[in-house]
Amino acid sequence: KKVVLAYSGGLDTSVIAKWLQQTYGCEVVTFTADIGQGEEVEPARAKAEAMGIKEIYIEDLREEFVRDYVFPMFRANTIYEGEYLLGTSIARPLIAKRLVEIAEATGADAVSHGATGKGNDQVRFELGAYALKPGVKVIAPWREWDLNSREKLMAFAAEHDIPVDFKKAGTKSPYSMDANLLHISYEGGILEDPWAEAEEEMWRWTVSPEKAPDEAEYIDLAFEKGDIVAINGEAMSPATVLTELNRLGGKHGVGRLDIVENRYVGMKSRGCYETPGGTIMLRAHRAIESITLDRESAHLKDSLMPRYAELIYNGYWWSPERLALQKLIDETQQNANGEVRIKLYKGNVIVVGRRSEDSLFDASIATFDDDAGAYDQKDAEGFIKLNALRLRIAARAGRKMK
Ligand code: ARG
Ligand code: SIN
Repeated sequence: KKVVLAYSGGLDTSVIAKWLQQTYGCEVVTFTADIGQGEEVEPARAKAEAMGIKEIYIEDLREEFVRDYVFPMFRANTIYEGEYLLGTSIARPLIAKRLVEIAEATGADAVSHGATGKGNDQVRFELGAYALKPGVKVIAPWREWDLNSREKLMAFAAEHDIPVDFKKAGTKSPYSMDANLLHISYEGGILEDPWAEAEEEMWRWTVSPEKAPDEAEYIDLAFEKGDIVAINGEAMSPATVLTELNRLGGKHGVGRLDIVENRYVGMKSRGCYETPGGTIMLRAHRAIESITLDRESAHLKDSLMPRYAELIYNGYWWSPERLALQKLIDETQQNANGEVRIKLYKGNVIVVGRRSEDSLFDASIATFDDDAGAYDQKDAEGFIKLNALRLRIAARAGRKMK
């Protein structure tokens, strides 16, 4: 009867809107969000209106995105498969949440999206929608229709008077891209050959490290409970912090990534990513934790991190296990306060200093210079001997060690 569509205003989701009206004879509500993708969202209004859509939601979600999704994720130093900073993965739960909320507000019984049947995004949208509105109906046109080529899509658009920006369509990027305040991603096209190097023109947010300034740039980042709250002494909102770090990182060639990753649906996929601000945040966050976190708390959260990354990648943000992990991670961040000094230079993020009122670093204990009495070197003898006990027992019993 009524469906809420995650609408970008682009060709694909415009075709979907029309197709939903036609195939399901239902009323379509569009939802377009600014999450920092760097494109105007207001033009989506006129496009939706032209298709006879009456309920149009256009929202600026940049602050919510960084404050409630990106920052909580970065408190865990999250990386998927050792490399990917989850730029697309972390935006989907927010879109799913708003789709469901708008469905509630407009009395819609279904939600729809433009993700294909081969990727991760369909899983993330739909797991989120089911978790937050268990009775919801999901319509994924890419899994249903036969408009599976550019030509068929364009023909459908022409046939139904969908305004196609032909100038734009003609210069359409050869990649499947997705962008938000955390990253921009590129997949498909020549990248489908994992041996083929991405062309320099593909990268949009960063200069190449070769072309980055010859002069290094220093920045001071202030942390409160694991989140960056100020840059160079200037307090900033979460979205402003990330915008500014993207600018600084982009200028110095920071945050390019070229990987082959395992999608949840089972296939391997080659992707290129630019995450300039996120790359800086990750290094700086580890630096503030290095002086403020107890060793075992730090190692415990490190051991859980790959699981946390995997559940975000696979689409389980809205799940009991994510909530439980988040509580543990947030608890470890109570003392993650202080400052980190970073040097940016030709693609590198170099930590050069860290300080905190909540530091556990004790120079009087760590010093090589003299024994102040806080640490008695003689204690180490028993410590090592007892730790060696089981090794000696095993050796005496003739157990193999090599
Ligand atoms: N492979 C990345 C991920 O699964 C990026 C997906 C990009 N999505 C897109 N609609 N182009 O998170
Ligand atoms: C898509 O298939 O829609 C994009 C790629 C992905 O979701 O992994």
